[in-house]
Amino acid sequence: MKTIRVELGERSYPIYLRHGILSSIGACLTELGFKSGAKVAVITNNVVGGIYGAKAEASLKISGFNPVIITMPDGEQYKTIEQASKLYDSLIEYRFERSSPIVALGGGVVGDIAGFVAATYLRGVPLIQVPTTLLAQVDSSVGGKTAVNHPKGKNLIGAFYQPKAVIIDPQALTTLDAREVRAGFAEIVKYGVIRDKEFFTFLEEKLLTLLDLGYDLAIAIATSCAIKAEIVSADERESGLRAILNFGHTFGHAVEALAGYGTYRHGEAVAIGMVMAAKLSVMLGVCKPAVAERIEKLVSSLGLPVEPPPLPADDVIASIKLDKKVADSRMRFVLVSGMGEVELRDVSETELTAFFERFYP
Ligand SMILES: NC(=O)c1ccc[n+]([C@@H]2O[C@H](COP(=O)([O-])OP(=O)(O)OC[C@H]3O[C@@H](n4cnc5c(N)ncnc54)[C@H](O)[C@@H]3O)[C@@H](O)[C@H]2O)c1
Repeated sequence: MKTIRVELGERSYPIYLRHGILSSIGACLTELGFKSGAKVAVITNNVVGGIYGAKAEASLKISGFNPVIITMPDGEQYKTIEQASKLYDSLIEYRFERSSPIVALGGGVVGDIAGFVAATYLRGVPLIQVPTTLLAQVDSSVGGKTAVNHPKGKNLIGAFYQPKAVIIDPQALTTLDAREVRAGFAEIVKYGVIRDKEFFTFLEEKLLTLLDLGYDLAIAIATSCAIKAEIVSADERESGLRAILNFGHTFGHAVEALAGYGTYRHGEAVAIGMVMAAKLSVMLGVCKPAVAERIEKLVSSLGLPVEPPPLPADDVIASIKLDKKVADSRMRFVLVSGMGEVELRDVSETELTAFFERFYP
């Protein structure tokens, strides 16, 4: 359907997006220049591997590759250095070499840990991301952030490591749990808010067909990837522009952590966080109330939560201060100034306390 590119000089890469492309992974690898006969490690989990593993394997074999499916257990609790170590064991056992690519087949968990393993095994082997959740297709597979969790916090151990390509099959979403699909929509809405007001209007207009997982959703995925690609191309390591991708995430991370991990899907917490950030923008006079109202309406129409659970404001503020993205203990927020436009602003504790008193008494 469409090829988008992340432009990073000699580390530039394509994002292939097409219905049914999972059956052509082998052809994509050939197009990327991998030689027939090469060993390919497909890292997946027991759920995704059970549904799509055989298809990926067959496609690689037809194109002359020598695939090995390496399966890890399903779940965020396995995104650990111990699990990464088990993956290294398998790669060593099968004698994977520096030129042997790793295909990450799964959601953000598989993508993050397989990406981290690809970044570190033999000091780096080629990585192909094949994301199968909506969140992974529009967010985590693009941009090169790879990580495992540490008992003290999420994603504390990791590396920036760009893939050689991202292969997106929107058809894979038809087997995904409806709640997971909805959670992915939060990040899609985010791209409209931060960068593209026409895209936001498109999402409002196509609300019903988007949820059918058809052509309009494929357009939304492509637009989201193109926006992320543009931002990552401009600021790979988050020294400036890339920070705007955190819209809704500062409150979202606090809600996710305080409610207890697993209560909300990441996208659900981001949905709540985006609505909170929009209201904060209104309170600080950065945007008009109508902008925040549109965001809240779209988020809730997509079946996502908009209200945080009852949490003491002090706890939320303390959690925000603990967030690793808080620079020099300043609480920096991405605020919306108009639809499609955001700005970064430090918010004081006094302002945040007033915000909670006004909107979440
Ligand atoms: N690297 C980044 O830039 C980045 C960005 C955002 C999130 N993340 C990370 O992504 C992770 C969350 O990813 P996620 O939301 O994709 O969750 P996930 O990977 O846990 O997938 C959710 C569930 O869906 C299942 N699944 C995946 N694809 C399926 C399919 N097509 N059909 C049926 N079931 C399927 C999975 O097995 C899992 O049970 C977190 O660890 C988060 O830290 C990373």
